[in-house]
Formats: sequence, C-alpha cells, structure tokens
Amino acid sequence: MLYKFFCGGYNRDMIKLADGWKDFEVLATGDGYKLERWGSYTLLRPDPQVIWRAKRDLFSRDYDAVYHRSERGGGAWEFKRPLPESWNISYGDLTFKIKPMGFKHTGLFPEQAVNWEKTSALVKNAGRKIKVLNLFAYTGGASVALAKAGAEVTHVDAAKGMVERAGENARLSGIASGIRYIVDDCKKFVARELRRGNKYDAIVMDPPSYGRGPGGEMWKLEDELYGFVELCNGVLADDPLFVLINSYTTGLQPAVLANILTLALGGRKGKVEAYEVGLPTSEGVPLPCGAGGIFTND
Ligand SMILES: C[S@@+](CC[C@H](N)C(=O)[O-])C[C@H]1O[C@@H](n2cnc3c(N)ncnc32)[C@H](O)[C@@H]1O
Repeated sequence: MLYKFFCGGYNRDMIKLADGWKDFEVLATGDGYKLERWGSYTLLRPDPQVIWRAKRDLFSRDYDAVYHRSERGGGAWEFKRPLPESWNISYGDLTFKIKPMGFKHTGLFPEQAVNWEKTSALVKNAGRKIKVLNLFAYTGGASVALAKAGAEVTHVDAAKGMVERAGENARLSGIASGIRYIVDDCKKFVARELRRGNKYDAIVMDPPSYGRGPGGEMWKLEDELYGFVELCNGVLADDPLFVLINSYTTGLQPAVLANILTLALGGRKGKVEAYEVGLPTSEGVPLPCGAGGIFTND
C-alpha cells in the first residue's frame, strides 16, 4: 500500500508500507522509541527516526523487554518477564527466528517485506531460472523469500553467525536447497566473481551505513556505495531482471538510490523506481524505515 502524504495541498506518493504482517505490528511510537509486537511478545526499542511525541508514555505501557542505549555506545536489553531465548514468527509461508540481540536487533527487518513482495513477483513472473546475488544479506530475509519464489540465491555476509541464522530461517521456511551461503567481504566476493566470469540475473543489497568485512575491511556507505554498484554491474547478466538497493541510513533519500542505479548501471535499458520504506502503525502514521531503489528491465 502506498501511504499518500498531503502537505499544503501538495500530494505525493510517499512511502511503501509493509502492511501484510499478522505476526508483527508496531503498536505505538514516540519520544525516540517504538513499541512492537513480535508474535506473542512485545519489545520496546529505540528508533532514531521517531522524533515526535508519544500519545502516551511508551514506558507506561505493557511490554516484555526494553533495549536501553548506553551513553558509551551500544546498550543492553532489560527483560520485564522471562522470554524464551528465541521464538519464531511467520510472514505468509516464510518463518523467521526472532531473538533479542546486541545493537537492539531482533534478527529481522519486517519492513523489508515490501522488497520481498516486489522481487519475489519479478522472479515468479520471469519464466526462467533466476540467479540472485544477495549482498550484506544478514539473516536472509530476502534470500529466503527469493528462494521460496524459485530463485537460485547466493547469500553473502561478513558475519558467520548471521549466515548461520539465514540457514536456520531457510530450514524453518521449508527450503532445503537453492541457497548458497558465503561468509565474505562483499566487495572482495564480487571482485572474485568478476574475475571468475560468474554472472547473476538479479542483485539485492542492503548495505549498512558502517560495516566491517570478516578481515576488518571498512565499509562506509557514502564513500563506497557508488563504486560498489559499478563493480556489481560487471557481474550482471546481459539482460538482468532487477537490481535492488535498500538502505536504512538516516537521511539517504530515495532519489539518491535512483541516481546511483541510473548512473552506475552503465545505461542499461530499463526502469528505475525509488521509494521510502515503512511500517504501518496502530496510530495511523507510518514509521519510516529507510529507502529502496530498484532497476528493472521493463
Ligand atoms: C543492515 S544489515 C542487512 C539487513 C538484511 N538485508 C535484511 O533485511 O534482513 C547489514 C549486514 O551487512 C553485513 N556487513 C557489514 N559490512 C560488510 C562487509 N564489508 N561485507 C559483507 N557483509 C558486511 C553485516 O554483517 C550485516 O549482516
């Protein structure tokens, strides 16, 4: 669903909302926090985008655990009730393991369902086997969705633990084959694929603002993204199905992703679309969760 934004009589399609969840919902937002239901459990987490006032103090609401930011960086979970170490939630026929972890993570970005829906439909309608390269692939939300749609996925992430979680999510979702798991620095891996002459029909990437490869390789989005998309262009098949870039980096506008896709893909014939990504909330306002941009061959 597109959330229509009206401002001074000016109307624009502002944000694509992941509104197909049953096991997940944003219950309330405000004062730097969001209150979310993940299956049977409610978590209160900080969110830098939430700079508006809460309708009702979120800390006075019922929740199972809260993540407190530390002034020295990082933070810690405080559990109000004993929680299982992990539990599962589903989105259609996909199942994911949820576990409160460091950096306020749970192991899933539910707003990504917007991108899963779009890219899965492209794979299903392609009428041929699609080889997808999923970069900065984390716990495999996109890998699992695309494998379920019939793609052959190469999943690359620097963190071994996250790649193992992707394998668990695939098993939970009933996917026995179709995903190749690689623990590597994304830039090094793509450069190696280029030398080997390996090609992909589609690429998905969700690069962080800052990151490190397994050998300590530095990644800073503003410095690296354009050159990295140019590098990825070299491993794209002659008639690629899509290239999707998602970013949670605060302040990165959709038009920046659209420009990068337009310019770095070397004038390939196709269409570029970019949009804000968000989640519906029970309060009626959307929760912004970054931006997406997609090149498609139509
Ligand atoms: C924002 S998360 C991606 C979220 C994921 N696409 C999703 O929606 O579930 C960023 C991921 O990039 C990985 N990462 C950071 N720097 C990297 C690098 N240089 N090479 C490979 N992976 C890296 C991290 O381990 C992390 O899993």
